[in-house]
Amino acid sequence: MTFLFNSDARRGAVFADAFAKELPDIPFTIDAGTVDPDTVRYLITWTLPENLTRYRNLKILFSIGAGVDQFHFDAVPANVKIVRMIEEGIVRMMQEYVTLAVLALHRNLPGYLAQQRAGEWADIAQPQAGSRRVGVLGLGQLGQAVLDRLKPFGFPLAGWSRSPRRIEGVTCHHGEPGLNEMLAASDILICLLPLTEETRGFLDAGLLAKLPSGAALVHTGRGPQLNHEALVAALDSGHLSAAMIDVTDPEPLPAGHPVWSHQKVILTPHVASVTQPATAARAVIDNIRRHRAGLDPIGLVDRSRGY
Ligand code: NDP
Ligand code: OXD
Repeated sequence: MTFLFNSDARRGAVFADAFAKELPDIPFTIDAGTVDPDTVRYLITWTLPENLTRYRNLKILFSIGAGVDQFHFDAVPANVKIVRMIEEGIVRMMQEYVTLAVLALHRNLPGYLAQQRAGEWADIAQPQAGSRRVGVLGLGQLGQAVLDRLKPFGFPLAGWSRSPRRIEGVTCHHGEPGLNEMLAASDILICLLPLTEETRGFLDAGLLAKLPSGAALVHTGRGPQLNHEALVAALDSGHLSAAMIDVTDPEPLPAGHPVWSHQKVILTPHVASVTQPATAARAVIDNIRRHRAGLDPIGLVDRSRGY
């Protein structure tokens, strides 16, 4: 019964240490070339290796990241559980990034950076937090965590999910009518949806048009959810005031794409949140213990929903 780690060696070393201490009866390897495929019960990876089916006894496929959209579910045998990464490092970093983005947009940072480059010294009108409404698309582990971190600033908070949710201090919406209601009341919109067939191209011209004039966007979901041309058009027309974008399609965008140099865009290279090996190893070990006890792992993916 082997655990195969198929990612970078630095994180692999941290996982190897944790497995040696916590699950010494499970051989751990980062060497897909020499492992006997029949012994592999658990695999952690970002993308699917070729010939996944040669691991005939595979039980759990772990994603090294929170997303699982990089996996083609059809290539994963139906009896193999797919598990996304839920670990405190990813959550903490996403809280930091979204807080940074919301405060930067709330305090007009893109506008002040543009003024600095132009040698201008002038105030930009500053609404107070109590009148800057923040809406989050996706109320999963990350959406809820960032809302929690934003609470002390006093922004009116709202969120949207597929199924109904109740979160203290957050106006929760779901479904199509709920979406329109939230968009109309989101001065800063944050996308933390997983990429699925339903959310591909979701942030399009129609959706952006439903935001209040002067709204801003934080995009930390997945690049293919955003229509980049629609974003640029909304920024150029003044309908959107600014955007902080962490994910694009493709990554990186081609040289010369208008998003690279847009005055109203802060662009980061898909770094909002990164799996932290010590906490991730603990989460994976806990899940293996759950599996051995006959329990479902935390973060089990529902293949029919796509996340
Ligand atoms: P979860 O699976 O915990 O939550 C997903 C949320 O999205 C749920 O609230 C779900 O609704 C909602 N949702 C999904 N599909 C729909 C839909 N069609 N309509 C309405 N709501 C929908 O995911 P996480 O919070 O862990 O992660 C979210 C995404 O963040 C990841 O999939 C990944 O793409 C991205 N990410 C980006 C990173 C970065 O560095 N930029 C790092 C880590 C993650 P419901 O509650 O009803 O199920
Ligand atoms: C993830 C990511 O899904 O880094 O973890 O995007």
